[in-house]
Amino acid sequence: MNIYHTVSGLRAEIRARRQGGETIGFVPTMGNLHEGHLQLVRLAKEQCDVVVVSIFVNPLQFGLNEDWEKYPRTFQDDAKKLEAEGCDFLFHPDENEIYPNGMADQTRVVVPTMTDILCGASRPGHFEGVTTVVSKLLHIVQPDTAIFGIKDYQQLAVIRRMVEDLCIPVDIVGAAIARDVDGLALSSRNGYLGEDERPKVKVLYETLCWCRSQIEAGERDFTALEIQAAETLEKSGFRTDYVSIRNSKTLEPAAHDDSQLTILGAMFTKGARLIDNISMTLGESQAAAVLEEQTEVKK
Ligand code: PAJ
Repeated sequence: MNIYHTVSGLRAEIRARRQGGETIGFVPTMGNLHEGHLQLVRLAKEQCDVVVVSIFVNPLQFGLNEDWEKYPRTFQDDAKKLEAEGCDFLFHPDENEIYPNGMADQTRVVVPTMTDILCGASRPGHFEGVTTVVSKLLHIVQPDTAIFGIKDYQQLAVIRRMVEDLCIPVDIVGAAIARDVDGLALSSRNGYLGEDERPKVKVLYETLCWCRSQIEAGERDFTALEIQAAETLEKSGFRTDYVSIRNSKTLEPAAHDDSQLTILGAMFTKGARLIDNISMTLGESQAAAVLEEQTEVKK
């Protein structure tokens, strides 16, 4: 595996491989890699000849009082894991390489409206930072395929929209959520959980599953379900950011006749903000649920 710190160095190598007729798969990350990230790398390897992974803790997507400084940076470990997965190129730029003109004057990419809701409502500017850096990375790497986790459902939806609206020539692929044995979605931020909290946070996934089972049983009062779900999280000792039942594509509040639904949740622990989601297809919900469970990677 070759490691690059500069845009020009990485581009030269990728250009050579592309000219040789090989396809390029790309997995952008912020490092501190876990099984969820590695699953994206495996998918990229299955689908493309050359796999590029980036590790960049993007300051532009963190709010002023968020965890940019304490975000776990474990480059040596990450590089070993990627090497073992057969990653070809690891791109690890510093801030100056990505934002040579400074962050304040950086051209921004904004996906309106769908970034103001859910996570965007509690993290103003977050998605603007994500779409700006992802569009830069897509222009740097120019991959045929880029892989993102369904774990960050809204991020994936926003990126799909950006790529469609800006006619960026890349296939965006979504990868299933990798979970710990108790159902907790794997996340670099799980490292912020206290020992006392860790056994309790599975309540987020359990509550989303409960919403799904209620809808499968015929419940269509989505607001009542959302309120009850939020209460369950609070009773377990966590502050609810939101539990929301949405149209899977538009992320607008679900209508009673929508067939593709996504139930999204976010809650605060003492030191972290955790997110999770479940998608379901009404009418074929049983089949969809089984399929989702089968594709989830157990740690
Ligand atoms: P990061 O949080 O490091 O995640 C990198 C990719 O891994 C994202 O596509 C994310 O959805 C995926 N991922 C994380 N946990 C996962 C899990 N448990 N199962 C499946 N996929 C998982 O998301 C970012 O970085 C950044 O916002 C980034 C896109 C790199 C832009 O800076």
